[in-house]
Amino acid sequence: MTAIGHPALSILMIGCGNMGAAIANGAVAHMPAIDITAVDPDVERARQLLSSQAPVEVLADFEGLNDRNFDVCILSVKPQHAEAALQAARTNLPDALVISIAAGIPLARLRAATPGLRRFVRVMPNLPALAASAMSVGFADQDAVSERDRQVVEDVFGAVGTFCWLASENEIDLATDVTGSGPGYVFAFTEYLQRAAEQMGFPGDVAQQFARQTVIGAARLLEQDPRTARDLKVAVTSPGGTTAAGLAVLETPGALPTLLVETTAAAAGRAAQLANVPQ
Ligand SMILES: NC(=O)c1ccc[n+]([C@@H]2O[C@H](COP(=O)([O-])OP(=O)(O)OC[C@H]3O[C@@H](n4cnc5c(N)ncnc54)[C@H](OP(=O)(O)O)[C@@H]3O)[C@@H](O)[C@H]2O)c1
Repeated sequence: MTAIGHPALSILMIGCGNMGAAIANGAVAHMPAIDITAVDPDVERARQLLSSQAPVEVLADFEGLNDRNFDVCILSVKPQHAEAALQAARTNLPDALVISIAAGIPLARLRAATPGLRRFVRVMPNLPALAASAMSVGFADQDAVSERDRQVVEDVFGAVGTFCWLASENEIDLATDVTGSGPGYVFAFTEYLQRAAEQMGFPGDVAQQFARQTVIGAARLLEQDPRTARDLKVAVTSPGGTTAAGLAVLETPGALPTLLVETTAAAAGRAAQLANVPQ
């Protein structure tokens, strides 16, 4: 990723935990003309999560902002705190673009909670943002959000990985079942690969190294090689060989392909339930 030239931009980060700090670290590294102020009650933890050279001011509460106004607000508190936190900051955001990453909170809820604010974008990054390798998806309210706003979103989330716009807010929830929960599925796959190696007799630490590095290596190849996952799978599989024998089990009807469809469907079902629970 290269540094992005930007007119000066002031960003208020509400909540500077795992995600907020990862986004701030990426943004300050790749967008030279930005100024980030974070508000988080746990200033010490926020400072630990921010990279040591990140020029981010961290305040414990909104009073410390006095009457400062910001161009952009990134709302990165837990979903149950999202509406109250945005309300608390709204006087500092009279004409700000609000980017919410709070999982499962529809833009309509934020808009209803803060009637004075107009420009909202919802973005769902995923955990690999912590390694600047996120898959983030976003939805913008077409009428209220400008081209420049969209560019800011692309630059901020491009600084922590890959970003993709979606056509409807509903697609954010659907994508979350793949991209948001997906790292959990990959970690589970790695765990069970390790367990299989242990059952073959390898000590735990060796089995862990085998599974971990195999997944990391395959992921790096996916990143560097333009071939699709399917093409790479075919390339690594000699007819009648060992990988073919293993894949015959993994891809048997009802196994991995079906399980992943059921896995993402279960995540979608749970997301729908959570959306109906008052927060
Ligand atoms: N983690 C992921 O993989 C992931 C992926 C996509 C989206 N998200 C979304 O990202 C958001 C943040 O997640 P996270 O994992 O970064 O959580 P986190 O590490 O708990 O960070 C949230 C931070 O916000 C602080 N906070 C709470 N109330 C606040 C307020 N009123 N004003 C300012 N700060 C406040 C919290 O402080 P206290 O701990 O003291 O309450 C905490 O430090 C969530 O909405 C989540 O849905 C997370």
